[in-house]
Amino acid sequence: MQGKRVHRHMKRFDITDPTLAEQGEKRIEWAWQEMPVLRELMQRGSRDQSLRGVRVSGCLHITTETANLARTLKAAGADVVLCASNPLSTQDDVAAALVQCYGIPVFARRGESTEVYYQHIHAALDHRPVITMDDGADLVSEIHKTRTELIPGMLGGTEETTTGVIRLRAMAQAGQLRFPVIAVNDAMTKHLFDNRYGTGQSTLDGVIRATNILLAAKTFTVVGYGWCGRGIAQRAKGHGAHVVVTEVDPLRALEAAMDGFRVLPLIEAAKQSDFIVTATGDKHVVDQAHMMVMKDGCVLANSGHFDVEINIPALESLSIRKTRPRPAVDEYTLHDGRRLRLLVEGRLVNLAAAEGHPSTVMDMSFANQMLCAVHLADSRHKLEDAVHSVPQDIDQEVARLKLAAMDMQIDSLTEAQSRYLSSWQEGTA
Ligand SMILES: NC(=O)c1ccc[n+]([C@@H]2O[C@H](COP(=O)([O-])OP(=O)(O)OC[C@H]3O[C@@H](n4cnc5c(N)ncnc54)[C@H](O)[C@@H]3O)[C@@H](O)[C@H]2O)c1
Repeated sequence: MQGKRVHRHMKRFDITDPTLAEQGEKRIEWAWQEMPVLRELMQRGSRDQSLRGVRVSGCLHITTETANLARTLKAAGADVVLCASNPLSTQDDVAAALVQCYGIPVFARRGESTEVYYQHIHAALDHRPVITMDDGADLVSEIHKTRTELIPGMLGGTEETTTGVIRLRAMAQAGQLRFPVIAVNDAMTKHLFDNRYGTGQSTLDGVIRATNILLAAKTFTVVGYGWCGRGIAQRAKGHGAHVVVTEVDPLRALEAAMDGFRVLPLIEAAKQSDFIVTATGDKHVVDQAHMMVMKDGCVLANSGHFDVEINIPALESLSIRKTRPRPAVDEYTLHDGRRLRLLVEGRLVNLAAAEGHPSTVMDMSFANQMLCAVHLADSRHKLEDAVHSVPQDIDQEVARLKLAAMDMQIDSLTEAQSRYLSSWQEGTA
């Protein structure tokens, strides 16, 4: 790994096609129109230069929204480079525009091999970041495994997604996390909106773009009723599908049932499903036993972070033929003639077959990223080496700015109400 890294030092960026820059720029500007909170933060950052000279490496999905986060960081004075957090989610035109139009180095090529993926991570680490921004904890993990020389200079990191936060908490629990990381995913203004409404809409978008199959009257199974699963189930219901939820957590299963969904064990659901979509952050939740009983034509997709939720090696071993009837669909024919259709190789379907979360929700997630970066810079080396929550004032500020941008006003407590709500003495009048 090290040897390969030395070789890569020479490159200032690595993208697929610089001539795509004009198209990428147009799409970045289009997304910008839906990102009023980030626009406000860019204005503030340009004025205050709150990240002047701070080296930031972001390992994020290279999408139009990420481009706007990078521009905002740069406007506040940060020295930013980006690499992809998933080999299939990179939008090559965006990568080109970032490099050509905005002067932000990017190391990402859509469809890059695992080897190139890690080369790109190391290229982003060659930037010697003092702040990392992860979507899946790969930068933090690589720093701790192979780039420990960077640790003393680190102000900290931020983490965008549930899976990354789980990995980081495991590191912290094992006493191995050596700089502070802020769990942006856990901000209310992140997961309540991005995981639910963003993943909900974009996952359905990905499934539909990939297959162009009508969802109405189909049986659509959602595996995992967390924040993402809730959104996917709601949106599938909106398309007229019969939605089934499978869970391992009794509370979440109960919630799904009360939300009006049918709750079944996956082995039962698999027999009836036309679509099965995973969003658990867990491994092999769709396994060989389920594949053995699935209906002919069942579509399998994943919206969880890693491509391990569907046991693809098992699918490969069960099948006698694999064809690609549409660009994002691999059709596996099993020994008994049934066909199972896997979308985008089991990777995040909303990013690999559609465009990821709409900018409207990413506005809030990335406003948290921006404000957390400023918080890390302001707290220079004062935070404990642990996984930290997003400070509540940041969460509230993001919600306030979003409401203001949506031109919505809310009420505020009167003094008497504040007193009443904070007192234990007043009861029945
Ligand atoms: N596609 C995207 O753009 C996107 C966006 C945000 C998060 N994510 C990823 O989606 C995944 C889920 O995130 P979340 O915020 O919904 O997490 P969450 O923790 O809120 O929910 C996960 C749910 O899956 C359930 N689960 C775990 N193993 C299961 C199994 N074997 N069978 C059935 N259910 C099981 C858990 O009980 C839990 O209710 C994570 O990997 C996260 O990183 C993806």
